[in-house]
Amino acid sequence: MPTHTMRSLIQTNAFIDGHWIPTDDRFPVTNPANGDTLADVANGDAALAERAVEAAHKALPLWRAKTAKQRADLLRRWYQSMMDNKQALGELMSAEQGKPIAEAIGEVEYGASFVDWFAGEAERNYGDILPVSSADKRSWIIKQPVGVCAAITPWNFPNAMITRKVAPALAAGCTIVVKPPQLTPLSALALAQLASEVGIPDGVINFVPTTHSREVGEVFKQHPRVRKFTFTGSTAVGKKLMEQCAGTMKKVSLELGGNAPFIVFDDADIDVAVKELIACKFRNAGQTCISANRVLVQESIHDAFIEKLESALNGIKVAPGDAEDVDYGPLIDADAISKVTELIEDATAAGAQIKTGGRVLSELGELFYSPTLVTKVKHTMRIAQEEIFGPVIAVQTFTDEAQGVQLANDTPFGLAGYFCAQDYARIQRVSEQLECGMLGINTGSISHAYNAFGGVKESGIGREGSRYGLAEYQETKNITLGGLA
Ligand code: SIN
Repeated sequence: MPTHTMRSLIQTNAFIDGHWIPTDDRFPVTNPANGDTLADVANGDAALAERAVEAAHKALPLWRAKTAKQRADLLRRWYQSMMDNKQALGELMSAEQGKPIAEAIGEVEYGASFVDWFAGEAERNYGDILPVSSADKRSWIIKQPVGVCAAITPWNFPNAMITRKVAPALAAGCTIVVKPPQLTPLSALALAQLASEVGIPDGVINFVPTTHSREVGEVFKQHPRVRKFTFTGSTAVGKKLMEQCAGTMKKVSLELGGNAPFIVFDDADIDVAVKELIACKFRNAGQTCISANRVLVQESIHDAFIEKLESALNGIKVAPGDAEDVDYGPLIDADAISKVTELIEDATAAGAQIKTGGRVLSELGELFYSPTLVTKVKHTMRIAQEEIFGPVIAVQTFTDEAQGVQLANDTPFGLAGYFCAQDYARIQRVSEQLECGMLGINTGSISHAYNAFGGVKESGIGREGSRYGLAEYQETKNITLGGLA
């Protein structure tokens, strides 16, 4: 049963030690579909960030001391409250982020599933008994919470990118401070409200909304009480954050940028490839780190593939997120539109061809961009080297399997990768050769709380979700007991 409407979930102040803390300075949160202001939110500063860290530090001993079952029970109550209120949370997310309401509700379910999964992982938190190394000694390993954690989360998934950091932290027995994205803080603050209502103790979760990202981030990165830092965002920022965390040797996990290849081999089922590419590419209007960025199609099937893809693109509906049956809504802001426009201009100037789309849908608003298909893309073009983060499919060709794999791996990034093929030997070979943390074969949908989300190379370190996600918030302690002879 829902306990909230969208209105009753709108909180506009920082959440620290179980209290809503106002600030004189405020910043507007707007709806990208129409530019309307949804709320004026407290603008946190370094002092507020310090206060949040102190609250998390104060709450740590009691939270850490709870049994696994007690922590799991509270996480399950939070999960249930998110599920009960998924409609209201989805509407709020759609309003501040732009994604269709149905997709936003899907994200709330996805976000809640991490809370449910990590409630279970709290209860599966085993250590190890080690082999006997000497007759008078016994050794074993226990897993302990790392301590106070700090998280900086992105705007593209305003709910799930928070829960998949906060839930494992809490499951492990840690407390946490979060800087939610300045473009979508309302979804984050709504999560705080629900957490508080279900009885998660004061100080265990704290949120500092802000436009002063650098100032608040400095506190998180440099504070000696913060023992773990986690970030989802660009590789360029991730590298700097990692450097700054070295000063106090924090445990770090980073989910960074990608440049996912989507390879269509000559033995692929073309209908499956088209359907899965569209699902992968247009999720969140292409504003997804694991979105297919480079579509590599084997030359011999290129024309047949493009023909089917072009006709499928005609069926995509672009509209504000609260419209009926909408596939995707506006991009997040004017910078996102400029980036997409620039990449397409750069590509076409160097010989690429726009088959369909390639324009701002100004009849809908300034931030709506058409479903776009660009062919004759070359590996050296910016559109193939940088994250597009928009509804643009950029197609290159390759001659044989070896060249397809070589092109796919020729990038400093390694978050997700995808390929479509049917030959089982090829499936085995290519899955071992591709350099990425996550691989989808004959599917463009690979996200799930049970799966290990994370990248290799410059796409980051650490994993979120899965049983590996809990370990990111734990220390391993080896204990040896002597004098047993
Ligand atoms: C992301 O874009 O960073 C997250 C996507 C996902 O979890 O599926």
